Amino acid sequence: MNIDLEKPMTHLTENKEDRYRPKYHMTPPVGLLNDPNGFIYFKGKYHVFYQWNPFKTDHSTKYWGHFTSGNLYEWHHETSVLAPEDWFDHSGCYSGSAIENKGNLIAFYTGNVKNEKGERETYQCMATSKDGMSLDKKGPILHLPDNYTAHFRDPKVWKKGSTWYMIVGTQTKEEEGMVAFFSSENLTDWEHHGPIAGSYMNGLDYFGYMWECPDLFSLSGQDILIVSPQGLEAKGDKYNNLFQSGYFIGEMNYEDQTFSHGTFTELDRGFDFYAPQTTIGSNGKRLLVAWMGMPDEDEKNHPTIDNCWIHGMTIPRELSIMEDKLYQKPVEEMTCLRTKEVRHNKVSISTDFHEFDGISGNSIEMVIDILSKDYEVFNMRVSDAIQVSYDSSTNIFSLTRRKYHSEIDEVRECILEDLSSLNIFIDVSTIEIFINGGQEVFSARYFTDNKDSSVLFSCEGELSLKITKWDMKNSIIF
Ligand code: FRU
Repeated sequence: MNIDLEKPMTHLTENKEDRYRPKYHMTPPVGLLNDPNGFIYFKGKYHVFYQWNPFKTDHSTKYWGHFTSGNLYEWHHETSVLAPEDWFDHSGCYSGSAIENKGNLIAFYTGNVKNEKGERETYQCMATSKDGMSLDKKGPILHLPDNYTAHFRDPKVWKKGSTWYMIVGTQTKEEEGMVAFFSSENLTDWEHHGPIAGSYMNGLDYFGYMWECPDLFSLSGQDILIVSPQGLEAKGDKYNNLFQSGYFIGEMNYEDQTFSHGTFTELDRGFDFYAPQTTIGSNGKRLLVAWMGMPDEDEKNHPTIDNCWIHGMTIPRELSIMEDKLYQKPVEEMTCLRTKEVRHNKVSISTDFHEFDGISGNSIEMVIDILSKDYEVFNMRVSDAIQVSYDSSTNIFSLTRRKYHSEIDEVRECILEDLSSLNIFIDVSTIEIFINGGQEVFSARYFTDNKDSSVLFSCEGELSLKITKWDMKNSIIF
């Protein structure tokens, strides 16, 4: 495939119906997208850089692709900013973060290198920019400390007081996942203070062989560590995806470089959510975007590869803490994409699946309020590939999807004491379900063979709902 990186590459897919491409979620014009990188609000614009293989729909190389937005809902695809062509990053410009310093955007990323012997090397690198639209590489600023394998990557940098801090996702030589902690006064000389969290630390047992994409920030007076551990075993309704992304709430002690924390909670209970990254928005709110995908997936059989692209991002979410739990809500700006409102103030749901006037579509948002509680099971079907259910006797909320290219149904579940509202974003082949104002979230890709865009409701017992639906405007500009 001959790709001109200066130009958007939609022409490669122009001749084929691109039937699974979302309309308001960031997707790559061609190639593979994974982690969000360098998420930042800089000089009046949001930047979401991302892991991008522009040449193939696999993970064989990584550039930093780039989206910008003035408002968090309309995203422009820009020219790629980092290419893997130097001695310190030639096998991939891996994930990292961005900060602002003295009017410059400074990005930190992992230079991934496979040397002549086929061994992995890792370099934490810096790149700078005046306008955020192109990055000047400055090369490595941090070499691999002792005690870790070369699975050492994904630097996240922030400032507290006058000092800069960095955390990096690692694997120790004992093959345990941990987060390494560094500080610096000038962004180029970094002091290593050892790990602050990981397997066998702070009361945890073994907790995976590698921790990727760490992020540490404070919210409402508490410190939150987000991380994507690999190697956890499924336990009941927890950890059912191949890899997880979740958080610890705790307290970061910058004096003695320790982080004391509670238990690990998954951020998203659906099928496709990984490597989330946060930043502070223009209004001071803590925002999150994540890859709506999963590493080591069967890319060869993925339905969108016929159109030369694969994967996408979640919509931006705003974080808050309530009763020691992280809540995620769609950012308020998403309401600007709403058009053509349809509202049913009170509909009664019965045992047979039923469609309500105007409540359908493949690029929509819905708000569903539960008006009565006298029901046993509530069900909602989206096309023939997704079913959402809540059983009020067992308190199990579930998302069932038909696995693509098969007749197999897969389920993800969580316990929910009460269901009062659902805010659902459907976008052609993606669904994100925000439950009870963001108490739990389920994100998933799904693919249906027919062009069914129905939304159907049923229940056991008596249930009435208020349903509001909007069509969503297209908001991704390639
Ligand atoms: C997470 C991850 C990161 C790495 C990047 C490479 O999905 O494996 O640890 O930097 O993807 O694309």
